[in-house]
Formats: sequence, C-alpha cells, structure tokens
Amino acid sequence: MLKHFLQFKDLARDEHLYLFERARLIKSRFKRYQPYHPLVDRTLAMIFEKSSTRTRLSFEAGMHQLGGSAIYLNTRDTQLGRGEPVEDAGEVISRMVDIVMIRTFEQEIIERFASHSRVPVINGLTNEYHPCQILADIFTFIEHRGSIQGKTVAWIGDSNNMCNTWLQAAEVLGFNVHVSTPPGYEVEPERANLYGTDHFESFADPMDACRGADLVTTDVWTSMGWEAENDERLKAFADWQVDADMMAVAKSDAVFMHCLPAHRGEEVTAEVIDGPQSVVWDEAENRLHVQKALMEYLLLGKVETEQ
Ligand code: CP
Ligand code: NVA
Repeated sequence: MLKHFLQFKDLARDEHLYLFERARLIKSRFKRYQPYHPLVDRTLAMIFEKSSTRTRLSFEAGMHQLGGSAIYLNTRDTQLGRGEPVEDAGEVISRMVDIVMIRTFEQEIIERFASHSRVPVINGLTNEYHPCQILADIFTFIEHRGSIQGKTVAWIGDSNNMCNTWLQAAEVLGFNVHVSTPPGYEVEPERANLYGTDHFESFADPMDACRGADLVTTDVWTSMGWEAENDERLKAFADWQVDADMMAVAKSDAVFMHCLPAHRGEEVTAEVIDGPQSVVWDEAENRLHVQKALMEYLLLGKVETEQ
C-alpha cells in the first residue's frame, strides 16, 4: 500500500520504533564504510519552495548512498513557480520518479500533491510540520539517553512547525512536552492536529517549562515565511532565550537540541548551543541516517535487519 510521510502521525508507534532501529543499523554500516545499495535505479525528486542546507544535503547524499539518485527542483526554475496546478505536478512528477520530498508553505499544498501522486511523498518542512527533523531529534535522544517514552521535553519559543511536530510525536511515542511561548504565540492544537491535550502542558514562564526536563529545545523566532514579522518577534520573544539558567533547572543530564540554523544571542545563547549539553551536531548528522531508513521503508517496507 502506498504510504506517505506528510506528518509525524502518518506512521504508527511501531513503525517509528522500527525506523529508529533501522537508522541505527544503517548509520553503523555507513560509519564502517560498508556499502549498502537497496535503492539502485530508484530516483528521488526533491522540490524546494523554501531555502535549505541540511534537508537538501541529507536527502541527496542519503539517496546516493543507498544506490539511487536525486533530482533537485525549485519553484524559481520550474513550472510550479508559474502557476502549474500542484495536482498536475503530482501526476507528472510521480510518473517519472520513485519517491518525492517536498519543502513548501501550507500543509495543504503537500496534501494536494500527495493525493495525486503514485509514489510516496515525504514532508521536508511545511508551515505546520517538520516531521523528518523530529525523527532525527528523537533518534538522537535515544542514542544519548535511551527511550524517550515517559520523558519530558521543554519547548521554548514559537509554536511553529517544529513545536507542532514535537506535540504530535509526544502522542505517538508517549512522552510529555512542556511548552512556553510568548503571549499571542500559543500552541493551536487543531493546527498541530493533535488527538487531545494530554501530552502537553503550557507554562507562562519558560523557567517553569524547563524545570526537570530531560531535553530542552528551541528554534528560530522567525520561521521562513514570517520574515515580515521579524521586528515585532524580536521584541516579543526577548525573554524566551534558552540560557544557562534555564539549562540549570532542567535535569542535570538534560540535552539541548536545535534543528538549525540557529541565531546565537536570540533564541539561544552561545554558551548553551556550544556547551557540553548541546547535541546539535549529532542531531544535524542524524537527518541523514533517519531519512535513509525512512526512504528505504517507504519504498521497500520492513526489511530483514542485518548488522
Ligand atoms: N533543520 C533544517 O531543516 O535545516 P535546513 O533548513 O538547512 O534544511
Ligand atoms: N521553524 C524553522 C525551521 C527551519 C529548519 C522554519 O520553518 O523556518
């Protein structure tokens, strides 16, 4: 059956746990320079309507490492930027490649594309969600601290695509998110597409959100697409900077994560992001490994694990 990964909850808990185990094996083989080419002759189309460093690189390198090839398309140089309906693009592109990754604006765009696609579609970031990043973040947590089930994640800052996806992941995998946003930037549960509110709690004071957390994380104050609000956001978010005081009230072995790119001196201090609790470089690297596991799963299903 055709499977897409348009939001975190598109895969069930057991599928996510399979992906984490698969990513561990794929990463370990890669680190030992053992070639692994299950996707020979498969082609990935990557469609970008917003900028990217990590997402493009990890998908393109990942597909190459699995034996396939990747084609980069952007709005500027394709008919998508000249008003070709996204449904038509879905029909045509999915007849020529085996899998598609899209980074775009509204979630509705990727859903319309997927509903006209013959092949799996992966969300490489929309205004609402960033599920590949949260796959990498949770895999990184597991590598450093073990299972995330029952743990507490502190989300400090904007209730953006990253925040929404953490909230969905908490429902799927059974952990809690303590959210602290400035007034006016609160979580919208319908936008996050949650089953309920059992897995998150909102805190007015970011220090309270960080208290006792196993993982503290944040993101830029102004996401791509909201640049016109940058000046007002700089003022509104000034007290939502993750600093050493916030890390000090989290668990002593808490890790710090940021999906990157980061703005030191805005959402996080240099002391924290460059400090001993930060795992941001592992987090970035793990995009490569989890997405290889994801593409393998969407194209081949569950495969026998080999060491
Ligand atoms: N974290 C992330 O998605 O980075 P890019 O915008 O560089 O792809
Ligand atoms: N929330 C950020 C994440 C960038 C990877 C954005 O959407 O711009």
